[in-house]
Parts: sequence; structure tokens; C-alpha cells
Amino acid sequence: MAKVRHSRLQARKWSTVTLVLSMLFMLSVVLLMLLGLGIFFLPINDDDSAPNDLTSYRRMASERGKGLGKRGEQWTEVLSWEPRAFIYHNFLSKEECEYLINLAKPHMVKSTVVDSKTGKSKDSRVRTSSGMFLRRGQDKIIKDIEKRIADYSFIPAEHGEGLQVLHYEVGQKYDAHFDYFLDEFNTKNGGQRMATMLMYLSDVEEGGETIFPAAKGNISAVPWWNELSECGKQGLAVKPKMGDALLFWSMRPDATLDPSSLHGGCPVIMGNKWSSTKWMHLEEYKDTILPRYMPWRSSAGKVYDSCSSLYSGVSPTILLFDGYSLLFWPNS
Ligand SMILES: *[C@@H]1O[C@H](CO)[C@@H](O)[C@H](O)[C@H]1NC(C)=O
Repeated sequence: MAKVRHSRLQARKWSTVTLVLSMLFMLSVVLLMLLGLGIFFLPINDDDSAPNDLTSYRRMASERGKGLGKRGEQWTEVLSWEPRAFIYHNFLSKEECEYLINLAKPHMVKSTVVDSKTGKSKDSRVRTSSGMFLRRGQDKIIKDIEKRIADYSFIPAEHGEGLQVLHYEVGQKYDAHFDYFLDEFNTKNGGQRMATMLMYLSDVEEGGETIFPAAKGNISAVPWWNELSECGKQGLAVKPKMGDALLFWSMRPDATLDPSSLHGGCPVIMGNKWSSTKWMHLEEYKDTILPRYMPWRSSAGKVYDSCSSLYSGVSPTILLFDGYSLLFWPNS
């Protein structure tokens, strides 16, 4: 009796084992089918890099904000440590540069200064460019670019002002200035400006260099020294090249202001210069105002030709920038 029960138990055990085995077999078949169909894949590390190799992270970072068009070979050049400045080659694709230019073109506002004699607004030959602000995260392409700026500068996108697009024609320039503010009002939103990403949207045949006149070190040691204009030889110079970006810091690592970040734009001698600037602050910058542009005329005939200063009464707000004014209304 006991023997029969035992064999019956064994038979039941065997059938359970067969069932489990056949289920496992079927599961393998299904998995193989899924693998074959490409619906499911096993994580196979197909690159030869060592686990600690940073190239895969770099690839990940650069692939995240894929953006528009195909970018050329990307590499970083350390320009200087005083100021802290780096060139990211092929930071933007040609398509992205053209996209930014075309987006801004219909809205460019010419820089004007007020004639101290007549009190009338006039074209400045001293210091001109035309420009416009884009809203932060305005569209998918802008968002991608802003994400990339955050990745390369290590500053969150929320700390940035909206991109500004600038256009310089022959003879137009940007006098040496600091991007940081020395007044309290301008640092209310986001705190001090910490770093700037200056992107070149076009090549410039001659002139138009970005120069750091207060940079420490041998300014004539740059490989492009012989291609620089007279103005470009007055400081550590960067030649504009379509798609390249210049990241420089207005603050030192110890968070003090860095006067060696003094910079300017040399006059364009031949060609056109298009650039786009992203200013980044210490804290989150509230980009909640929609800019609208209006010519500004001072009743006192004062020439506004220095650093921007922000006047805020009730509303709207008037931003005096490069000798012309921007009138802001709250977004609501
Ligand atoms: C600066 O660099 C240039 C080019 O490398 C070199 O010829 C020159 O001697 C350097 N000047 C100084 C003061 O080191």
C-alpha cells in the first residue's frame, strides 16, 4: 500500500517537473521570438570603453539635446584661466545658427543713442548692434539649445535669461564691459550674473573678434594671432566662427567678481556678425516678462551708452540697454 502511494506521489512529482520544464521551454521560445523580432533586447555593452571611461557619459550628454541638424566635430579649447574662458567648437549646428538668425531677424531693433545736442535718437556709430530677446524655452529647438548650454556650463537652464540675438554690421562694435552688475536692482532677479555663453551664429570675414583686454597671460600666443584685426590684438581674442560657443565666467570659483572678465566686441571690418548670448545667474532667473521694444528718447538729452540699467517704477519697466531702450510689460 505504502509503496503504491509512494509511486503515485512520485508520478505526481514527475508530472509537476515536466510541467515546469515545458513552461520554462515555452518561455524561452517566446523570449527568443521577442528577441528575434527586436521588440525586446538584452543590455549588451557593445562599446569597448572601460567602465570608468567618461566618453560614454559625454556621448550621452551630447545626445540628450540632439537639436536641429548635424553638428561638426565637438571639442573643447581652454582659452584662459584669468578670465576662466573656454571655447566649445561646433556647439551649434549650421541649421541651429540659421534658425536663431531667422527667428530674430524680423524683430531686430537697431541700437540708438540719444544725440546730446539735438536730444533726438540717432544711429550710433560709436557703439551699435541690433538685437532682440527670445523667451526661455520658447520652442523645442530653443529648449534643446538651452539644455545643451546647461549641460556644458553646469548651470541649470532655469538660471538663464532668455537668449539674446545680436547683429553687427560693418563698423559696429561692442565696447568693453562686464556682464556682472554693480547695482543692487539688477541682481534682484536671480542674483548676480555668474557666467555667459556667447554663441557665434556666423563667420566674420574680418574683425568682430571678442576680446578680453584684461586677460592675464601672453595674448599673442594664440594660434590665430596673425589673422586678428588691430582691435583684436588689444587683448586675448576669439575669432567668431559659426557654431562655436565661448563660455566665460564673471565670477571666480570663490564667488568673487572677476574683473579679468572685461570683454568687448571688435568692429566688424568685412562681413556680418551674428551672435547669441545666454547670461546665467547664481539663482533661478524668472523669465516671466514679455519684451516689447520702443525707441527711447531722454528728455534731458542724455546719452545712454554704458552698461544697462534697469528702471522699475510701477509698470511697464524700462531697460536701457546699449543705448536703446526695451520696454517691458508684465506677462499677465
Ligand atoms: C608670447 O608668445 C609668442 C608666441 O608664442 C612668443 O613669440 C613671445 O615671445 C611670447 N612673449 C612673451 C613675453 O612670453
